[in-house]
Parts: sequence; C-alpha cells; structure tokens
Amino acid sequence: MGLDTSDDAAVYRLTDGIAIVQTIDFFTPIVDDPYTFGQIAAANALSDIYAMGARPILALNIVCFPNCLSTEVLGLILKGGADKVFEAGAVLAGGHSINDDEPKYGLSVTGVVHPEKAFSNAKAMPGDRLLLTKPLGTGIISTAMKASMATEGVVQNAVAVMIELNASAAKAMVEMGASACTDITGFGLLGHSLEMAEASGVSFNLETDHIPILPGVRELAAMGMVPGGAYRNRKHVQGKIKFKTGSDPDNHMAIFDPQTSGGLLISVKLEKEKELISQIDSYGGKAWSIGTVLSRQDYVIKMV
Ligand code: CO
Ligand code: CO
Repeated sequence: MGLDTSDDAAVYRLTDGIAIVQTIDFFTPIVDDPYTFGQIAAANALSDIYAMGARPILALNIVCFPNCLSTEVLGLILKGGADKVFEAGAVLAGGHSINDDEPKYGLSVTGVVHPEKAFSNAKAMPGDRLLLTKPLGTGIISTAMKASMATEGVVQNAVAVMIELNASAAKAMVEMGASACTDITGFGLLGHSLEMAEASGVSFNLETDHIPILPGVRELAAMGMVPGGAYRNRKHVQGKIKFKTGSDPDNHMAIFDPQTSGGLLISVKLEKEKELISQIDSYGGKAWSIGTVLSRQDYVIKMV
C-alpha cells in the first residue's frame, strides 16, 4: 500500500485475485487476569487485518515470559488468544516464546483480501460520513485501574470493548463498500483521524457531542487519570486541530487517549451511511456517526 500513508498492515499480491495482508502486534499486560489479557492482545492484533477489509486466516503467538511466573498463567494467556483466533475463524499455527523480565503477548496475523479491495486509510472522500465502531477511553480506564481508582463496572465495560473483535464492522464494510478505514489504537481518535485526513488530502469535522465515550472516562480524566500517551498525542496534533471557541481542550482528553484494541474509523458515502450502521448492528456490532469529510480547509480537523 506504500509506506507514506501509515496503513495498518502490509499487503502483498500473490495472484490477480489474492493478496496476503500481514501484521504483528504485542504488548505488556493491561489487566491482571491472564485469560482476559490474552483475549485483548489477540483482538488488538487481529484488528489491523479487519481495518484493511481482509479476512484473518493464520496467526502465530509471540510470547515473552519470566521464569518467576507459573506456566499456568502462560497457559491462560495463550488460551485467551487462541479463543479469539478461533472466534475470528482463523487458525493458530504455533509461535515463539523467549524468557523476559516482563510478560508480553501478541500475534502475528496473516489475512487474505482481493488486491483491489484492500481498504486504505488514504481514500476518504469529501462528502463522506465518518463512523466509529467502539467508544473511547480504554487508556484512561487502564491508567485508573493501575491506581485502583476505577470501579468494577467501569472496568467491565472497558474490558468488554477491548476483547470485542472488529469482525462485524469489517464484514459489513466489505459487503457494502466504504471509502477508507483504519483502526483507533495508540495515537488516539485524533491521531488516527489526522493520519487518515492527511493521507486522503481532506479535512474532517468531528462532532464532539456524537463521539462515544465509555462510562466513567470523563470523571476519571478530570481526576487526572490520564496516560502520558494522551498528552503526547495531543502535542503531536497541535496546530492542525481547531477547537470550538470557548471549549477547554482539557475537557476532551478522551479524543487523545491511546486506545488498546480500539474500534474502526470508517469513511463512507453519505447515502450508504445509515444502511452500513444497521448492517453492522445486524452482525452484532455497533457504529456511531461522528463526523463529515470535507475538501481540504485551512485546518485538518475541526471539532464542531
Ligand atoms: Co492499526
Ligand atoms: Co497495529
């Protein structure tokens, strides 16, 4: 797909009809429960395949694990990952592990797609609507979890979002067609929106009140439970974003919050928007309509 537009995975054409899509992702535990951690890490790794409109077929484990933890813990992490790969309809074909001080887990995933049908983040078109398929705030909630400041209900909501595959949204998007797609991960909604808008040569108007945010996130952010990455993300996009006059950007840390296993950001033609949302819904997913694509303005993103 080229190196200059930050797509989610590499695409390699095998024949006129088949390209393979290749990605890898792994990280340190963000929850205490090993089985849940395995599920989150796998859903996160599979997401880059879905963002390309591809179908995952094969996955390999990548594992770093310390001697001081029991192999039972490792077994549960791997079980979580294997269950997600199975749910995705792909095959877990093995992997590699090394000894390391801090546990880390993830997957390398291979997917397949028709070479002409791989979704890029560089084709958002003026007039399109922007859909987001998961609420924001997992970074803020993870930070609060480490400080024992998040209630059980808040944590459960965040975990449910992080272990959810982006499969339903991807399936609906592939069937109905869309202009562009990416997934929201470490750079947060605004960072990945900026990548998509710049790669596509367009501007985005994002509708502050329509952006879904997990319960508890605003309160936790106001208490200072904000990961360092959110401030780095905000700094990175500074100067390219216009805020509503009178609004305090400190109130909107969720839009900069680095997401783990975040949702897809889909750019779709206005006339297909409603149908795509209900199709995603019918496959068991969810999508929120959060903004509009415009021809390039004197800003890249405006919060309206
Ligand atoms: Co991605
Ligand atoms: Co990735």
